[in-house]
Amino acid sequence: MRGDIKLIMKKIIVGNWKMNPETLEEAQDIAKEIKKIASKLKKIETVICPPSIYISNLKSKISNLPVDEAGLKLGAQDVSAEFDTGSYTGEISAGMLKNIGVKYVIIGHSERRAMGETDEIINKKIKTALKAGLKVIFCAGEKERDDEEHFLDFIKKEIEGGLHGVEKKFFRNIIIVYEPVWAISSGKKFRPDNPDSVFKITIFIKKTLMPLVENGALRSIPILYGGSVTALTAREFLEKGGIQGLLVGGKSLIPKEFSQILEIADRL
Ligand code: PGA
Repeated sequence: MRGDIKLIMKKIIVGNWKMNPETLEEAQDIAKEIKKIASKLKKIETVICPPSIYISNLKSKISNLPVDEAGLKLGAQDVSAEFDTGSYTGEISAGMLKNIGVKYVIIGHSERRAMGETDEIINKKIKTALKAGLKVIFCAGEKERDDEEHFLDFIKKEIEGGLHGVEKKFFRNIIIVYEPVWAISSGKKFRPDNPDSVFKITIFIKKTLMPLVENGALRSIPILYGGSVTALTAREFLEKGGIQGLLVGGKSLIPKEFSQILEIADRL
């Protein structure tokens, strides 16, 4: 129980590598560098999410230590909505991920939503991943802001749609990422959100979650922020954003900068 509480309090820093890098050798180099730092930091949970094709190899290369001591967990960037194995060309099941040592999976990222993933598909993926014992890093966030705050309804719809019918007992394996699409660094006119705004939206997300979870469980659901996080902005977001961690895209591929972000999070 004490261990659980400690884990809940840990900051979670997730690196989303997206469709990078081009070669396995580069992936190994990045992972090794990150592991050097992550294995020394005890107050945070570091998760890297490489392309699925690299995961098995990285698992053996970076986790010759027992996973917890290695200080680095592996996550996938996607999972099939189908639980059972079968005729689903190109898909990777939650069970397959779990069986090769994956602990987390990102679901609902805006880049996958842009490829046609609906709230219904995301909901099915979330249920499938949870059933297999994976932890779900569930992303939601508006495409644009408006002064009348209609964007809040958009976030609410994504969260309620993704979590519809999820059994209450599974909420301990759910992490929510607030990631406004306009803040992602690959966008044309991207700009990061600011910690005050993230703080307000974190409260809004907690209110949205309230009817879905058991009494008292809300506190243990980590809410992360993602969108153009750098070593320069990480501290402010963590200190003032009311969040328990960060989802880092572009900068997670630069070991030096990602390591700085990890160290900042560990020191807080
Ligand atoms: P970014 O990406 O940090 O490069 O903005 C975040 C993400 O899309 O997960």
